[in-house]
Amino acid sequence: MLRKLLTNGHIRCARRFSSSKAIPELTKDRYNVKRGEYSLLTDGHMAFFMNLLGQNRVINDPSECESYNIDWIKNVRGQSRCILKPRTTEEVSKILEFCNENKLAVCPQGGNTGLVGGSVPVFDEIVISTALMNQIESIDEISGVIVCQAGCILENIDQQIGEKGLMVPLDLGAKGSCHIGGNVSTNAGGLRLLRYGNLHGSVLGVEAVKANGEILDCLSTLKKDNTGYHLKHLFIGSEGSLGVVTKVAIQCPTKPKAINMAFLGVESFDSVLTTFRRCKNELGEILSSFELIDALSLDVVTGHYKMQSPIPQFPFYILIETHGSCNEHDEEKLNRFLESAMGDGVVLDGTATNQPSKMKQLWELRESITQGLLMDGYVFKYDLSIPIKEFYAIVDVMNEKIGKDAVRICGYGHIGDSNIHLNLSFKEYSKEMHNKIEPFVYEYTSSLKGSVSAEHGIGFRKSKYVHYSKSPAAINLMQDIKRMMDPNKILNPYKVLPESS
Ligand code: FAD
Ligand code: MLT
Ligand code: ZN
Repeated sequence: MLRKLLTNGHIRCARRFSSSKAIPELTKDRYNVKRGEYSLLTDGHMAFFMNLLGQNRVINDPSECESYNIDWIKNVRGQSRCILKPRTTEEVSKILEFCNENKLAVCPQGGNTGLVGGSVPVFDEIVISTALMNQIESIDEISGVIVCQAGCILENIDQQIGEKGLMVPLDLGAKGSCHIGGNVSTNAGGLRLLRYGNLHGSVLGVEAVKANGEILDCLSTLKKDNTGYHLKHLFIGSEGSLGVVTKVAIQCPTKPKAINMAFLGVESFDSVLTTFRRCKNELGEILSSFELIDALSLDVVTGHYKMQSPIPQFPFYILIETHGSCNEHDEEKLNRFLESAMGDGVVLDGTATNQPSKMKQLWELRESITQGLLMDGYVFKYDLSIPIKEFYAIVDVMNEKIGKDAVRICGYGHIGDSNIHLNLSFKEYSKEMHNKIEPFVYEYTSSLKGSVSAEHGIGFRKSKYVHYSKSPAAINLMQDIKRMMDPNKILNPYKVLPESS
């Protein structure tokens, strides 16, 4: 039965996040890390920063520093006593030149919504926050190319360019807090990658500051530019380990005139795959999102936040979105697809809508899972690319291995991109459980030729597991690039790559 979407569900804003008050153990203790041979911050260093930025843009009060030291999922905690807030590329350049000369380690930070511990210091690294680098510099309404500073909040950009009929080709649950520079630095994927591709495609240019303070202008706004090596790609996804991204140029698509959504219930993972295949065939170019939510993932938001599911309980739910230019046409296509999928019994129940408030409710069901999971206690989070046929088996495998010791073992994610978010929640963190789960999860993923990081990056937590997805030769080349670009290793140390021998 195709239902009308319920309107009396509890609505919770999944956009601007703050997480629970628990304070994690210091990273150096939890993970037994040895501090690199960096200088210790002195009054002389602080005087330089105060002189450059003024007192208001240098934070050194311990209580004010705290939120910059703890990551969003409260897994890691550093001890930085110096947070810098530059406004311009030139200020970033002077900071890095000084830090490089004085062997002071730094940690670039955007919205601090990263999920792999890359955005906060491990020890006392100086945090370079892009919070005040928040200007959109240009919007070309004809080409759709925008240029903005790294600290622009994703949602703000989307709203501003939306007024001109454009949209950012990236959307994710943290959009109210994450910065575009953070998105580019993590090569964030998000909810519509299936349709709009990843940032290696839509970022046309990058301006970045190298470890020695040199400003690298690769801020091309051209769609086509085949002159020499494509250096911008070094900064897309390198998580602050090769430079600080200060500006980006992005190719933005036209905002769709018609948006439709459906929320479906199916009995088995096989039915999810069948639905995906049919969906691609029948919706073709208008399909913009195909997301999976398993029963226990939906239970996170219906349980913790009392949100209301528009359909009764099923083992799996599918969220479909279409972006097109003619509502009549798109609605007809979607309805035809739903009728045939439900007629065959592949889809057992569902609801479809194109009313903005109802579509918002559907997205909130999906996007609030990440935050809701934190209410279980401690979450071990995995962001895996797994060939689509084996996509969900990891959840069953982990259930067999860990089973009743967990509060919850669930899977959701971007099935259209073969990217599953496996989450295992427990009342609290335990080293013993950690060792039981890792490296097993990565070994398993590697045995299927998957990737240990589909979209969140490597950060601090996965740096010693890169070899499960990359060959020794590839890792050596990455280390050579790192040595060349950051010989003093001041940029985001202890992250992204394993220690070179
Ligand atoms: P931060 O967290 O501040 O930093 C992330 C990394 O980038 C760090 O290593 C940091 O050092 C580096 N960095 C930040 N800014 C710069 C810069 N200017 N120059 C150089 N390095 C920099 N990710 C996805 O891919 N898809 C999703 O669907 C998705 N959904 C999410 C939903 C929620 C609720 C949350 C909390 C996170 C989600 N994420 C998702 C994680 C995602 O990586 C981040 O939300 C986002 O891309 C990080 O941006 P940020 O500004 O918060 O960066
Ligand atoms: C998502 O798709 O919701 C994000 O990547 C965050 C998560 O993994 O929970
Ligand atoms: Zn995701």
